[in-house]
Amino acid sequence: MPEYLQIYIFTKELERWCFILGKLIIHGQKRLKGEVTVSGAKNAAVAILPATILSEGSCVIENVPDILDIAILKDIMTNLGAKIENINGSTIKVDVSDINSYVATDSQISKLRASYYLMGALLGKFKKAVVTFPGGCDFGVRPIDQHIKGFEALGAKVDIEHGKVILSANKLVGAPIYLDVVSVGATINIMLAAVKAEGITTIENAAKEPHIVDLANFLNAMGADIKGAGTDVIKIRGVKELKGGHSYMIIPDQIEAGTFMIAAVATRGDVLVKNIIPKHMESLTAKLQEMNVKVEEFDDSIRVISRDKIQKVNIKTLPYPGFPTDLQPPSTVLLCRADGTSTITEGVWDNRFQYVDELKRMGAKIKVEGRMAVIEGSTRLSGAPIRATDLRAGAAMVIAGMMAHGETVVSNIECIDRGYERLEEKLRNLGADIRRVADEEDKIS
Ligand code: EPU
Repeated sequence: MPEYLQIYIFTKELERWCFILGKLIIHGQKRLKGEVTVSGAKNAAVAILPATILSEGSCVIENVPDILDIAILKDIMTNLGAKIENINGSTIKVDVSDINSYVATDSQISKLRASYYLMGALLGKFKKAVVTFPGGCDFGVRPIDQHIKGFEALGAKVDIEHGKVILSANKLVGAPIYLDVVSVGATINIMLAAVKAEGITTIENAAKEPHIVDLANFLNAMGADIKGAGTDVIKIRGVKELKGGHSYMIIPDQIEAGTFMIAAVATRGDVLVKNIIPKHMESLTAKLQEMNVKVEEFDDSIRVISRDKIQKVNIKTLPYPGFPTDLQPPSTVLLCRADGTSTITEGVWDNRFQYVDELKRMGAKIKVEGRMAVIEGSTRLSGAPIRATDLRAGAAMVIAGMMAHGETVVSNIECIDRGYERLEEKLRNLGADIRRVADEEDKIS
């Protein structure tokens, strides 16, 4: 059993995941063709689930992706006292009436980045929270100083002891907060803590990602008063109570959609990516068009028709509406087949090119210089055993396997399962030759 899951095996939900882990075996050089439906957004779901803690009673959430991160989060919330019922495939009912603990220190919390939203949600509800320091994919240093700055501005005392963040306040009072860096996590955490604070909180230099708007819509549907989400100034007027009893549908996953769009081009394919918000895809669509890819936009879908030759481009990742850092690894792989030399500059994370060493085993010619990767195009990739070093790098490895000649075996795929729902099944339906095999050592004894 992988180390990642050893500590989780105490619920049926997580037990199920243990049985489906393993390796992906890919035989490349098949063009992707057909239609694929995108699931609910991971990074919205991991904020909305903790946000339910702030409500009274229960709510129904639709379009929840069936991914490992959500399974872990459900487990953490169940341990806090929430009752979570699976209504059908992607709809769940969350009842938080019995949550009476503000201490979230299960060992699995440190494995999940989004567990930091429990800080804002528990602080907002109880004026107290004790939460284990968050984990997540390793992109170098991942500080939470802006989250702490926000909590302190609202009147909370913040201590970090023995790997736990301890928050307490007599009362939370709205305040102006300027973020020194544009941070998705800090913006969301401050929204969660401020939504029931006294008075008005303004977050300046706020992140503008679609999942921030989605969280604001969810909270507003429960009675919150949040304006400006999606711009860089968010104004939150505190309310006394957030009511449960309603249904909310999570937005489609922008990064999953982008991954399929890139995979279509990488395999010289023709794919209709359905259930998306085309506006969220604009930065990628523009880059694909610059590469000479044909992109057709519809109301809630995008068709990507690749031409055999694609042009080199230069990409810089930035906070939304810039090119998403989470699509950086798949883009690097794609550019291995462009005409000419491309560059990708990482503008969000210090160290997000660790996966390049894996690609080099397949023959990729990529030089990483600090935050920039220089990618030599027209490279013939050949299948090899490779490792998913993190979630999006894992998706990139799968795309590389689909481009390569021969067989690729991708290991450490629990990284991929954390954020992509049934990735290999969706790709197989598009014509990819990809299958999951169990790892002997992954089986539960
Ligand atoms: N930063 C600080 N101080 C802070 C917070 C962030 O300096 O207090 C810095 C970070 O070091 C980084 C930059 O600000 O250089 C942006 O970090 P941000 O807080 O926006 O990232 P995050 O909230 O930890 C979320 C997504 C990531 C995605 C980033 C950027 C979730 C759960 N995670 O992370 O998604 O890469 O925003 O868009 O929403 C993924 O889905 O694979 C993933 C890693």
